[in-house]
Amino acid sequence: MPNPPRLEPWLASRALPITRRQSLGAGLATLLAGAMPWSVAGAATTPALLGRGIGFRSVPMTVTEPLAVPPGYTARVLCAWGDPVGLAQAQPMWRPDAGNTAAEQAQQAGMHHDGMAYFPLAGSARHGLLALNHEYTDERVLHADAASLAGGARTAEQVAKSMAAHGVSVVEVQVDAAGRWSVVRPSRHARRITAATPMRLAGPAAGHALLKTAADPEARRVLGTFANCAANATPWGTYLTCEENFQGYFEPPTALDDHHRRWSLRSGGSASNGNWARWHLHDERFDLRRHPNEFHRFGWVVEIDPHDPTSTPVKRTALGRAVHEGAAVGVSKDGRAVVFMGEDARFESIFRFVSRDPIRPGGAAANRDLLDHGTLSVARFDAGGRGRWLPLVHGQGPLTADRGFADQAEVVVRTREAADALGATQMDRPEWTAVDAATGEVYVTLTNNSARGRPGQPGADAANPRAPNPTGHLLRWRHGGDLAAETFAWDVFALGGGETPGDAFSSPDGLTIDARGVMWIATDATPMTQAAPGDRLWLPRNQLLACDPTAPGGPQMRRFLVAPEGSEVTGPVVAPDCRTLFVNLQHPDAGWPEAGQRPRSATVVITRDDGGLIGT
Ligand code: FEO
Ligand code: CA
Ligand code: CA
Repeated sequence: MPNPPRLEPWLASRALPITRRQSLGAGLATLLAGAMPWSVAGAATTPALLGRGIGFRSVPMTVTEPLAVPPGYTARVLCAWGDPVGLAQAQPMWRPDAGNTAAEQAQQAGMHHDGMAYFPLAGSARHGLLALNHEYTDERVLHADAASLAGGARTAEQVAKSMAAHGVSVVEVQVDAAGRWSVVRPSRHARRITAATPMRLAGPAAGHALLKTAADPEARRVLGTFANCAANATPWGTYLTCEENFQGYFEPPTALDDHHRRWSLRSGGSASNGNWARWHLHDERFDLRRHPNEFHRFGWVVEIDPHDPTSTPVKRTALGRAVHEGAAVGVSKDGRAVVFMGEDARFESIFRFVSRDPIRPGGAAANRDLLDHGTLSVARFDAGGRGRWLPLVHGQGPLTADRGFADQAEVVVRTREAADALGATQMDRPEWTAVDAATGEVYVTLTNNSARGRPGQPGADAANPRAPNPTGHLLRWRHGGDLAAETFAWDVFALGGGETPGDAFSSPDGLTIDARGVMWIATDATPMTQAAPGDRLWLPRNQLLACDPTAPGGPQMRRFLVAPEGSEVTGPVVAPDCRTLFVNLQHPDAGWPEAGQRPRSATVVITRDDGGLIGT
């Protein structure tokens, strides 16, 4: 989502981050063998042994080409909005006049590509599945007749097309002998998941009264996922897609209660109530005046088995309900899943879920209930570089019936209020998290917070040290050798705005650590145009940076990619052999990727011309 989150877009113009198996300890590595999506047959490449060194020439901000990568690298568009995903039954081609129907859109890649993960097929780093999110739509670009949208009007076909342009795509990709990647069409793996796809509710809120609707009186089955922002793969081979700004898809109730206000819902007419999607005009479940509990059925982390296109996605309510941004999975000392999650909104918090049970060998099927049982916590960062995970557990501390939390379902539905009650640290818009499996360190991007320090708003604190904070920062945790530990040490890893050595950046967002341990940071900045062209802080376009987080003397940022005008960089993921980097470019200006055409968000694949390791 752009920066700041934009609820009216038409008005403005991995995986446990690819774990090095040796870091897991021999016992766990053996346990997980076969379950790990990156158990690459060709692991003889052992990229970890090659170290984290960064070896490319930095891309200057002064480049004039629309999409720039270092000398010796080639970037190609792999899958853009409207490209057919390769479903066997139909592969409708994209129409430059946006004349594709809703039914065709449901067979094509959606809009506004965001989080992404690569799943090897037969252990290959050269043939696999890409699962990618389609976060939201630019309705003026999506529909052929933009004038027909005036005043918030929508036809039923337009709403259906908008819903079909959201969600997730799964595409099969492979590279040929010449080193050129392509989407395999047709593919038995190809899949579109949209805002209308049936999904299962699981965990403590499944079946609860707060989630019951007329269409689903059992509160077990919900249609669709949308606002899917960040994403991660799990060690057992599934995809976690995170529902972020879901609140902008509902017509608010006439009378707002405290929960609605906590979500900044606004009463009033369509011009001011924040409902930009307008789906309620043709799908009444998005009208909270009629179906108030529908609001509680979104804002979850959704788990998808990308290897089984017939599988039912599952909303994992145990992980809490939030403006979810990322769900990076690590492994505790005793083999349990540990999920780190940001909530990207000003003064919201960072969460952790630790599964009750260990990860079992056997992939998705063996771990189908793993994320339904465990402990959700929220982070408190204390001065002096110490901190604590505060459990969001019903009956503990203030999370009791007499304080308004009747049971664990209420705790997870009202995660924000529960975090408030516990005294969670209010952060500067936590976006992606990443686990460095070799060191056990965990990182989070805090994209920015221009409101910190404003009258009536929190001021600077230890973990959010700048008020205001227009350029963001990254924090690092250490858990003393066990990601499930209750306490942690933390420090500021890097500051945006040119205060960290190397190339300047602003508004860090996407974050991943590849198999060697190289960190990749994608930005979603409002350009800092106050500087002059050529100055270090002149950042008119977003970028992708590489960094060795363990470098002696601290991190050095190096600019690997300069994005097309208008676009943010999202979803970076590096193939397990570190010879391919996939990245998404979201909401470019008109004329990219095709000159003279309406803009299309796209997945771009980047390789080295000599076939070597990316970034080394
Ligand atoms: Fe969708 Fe927080 O970016
Ligand atoms: Ca962002
Ligand atoms: Ca983001």
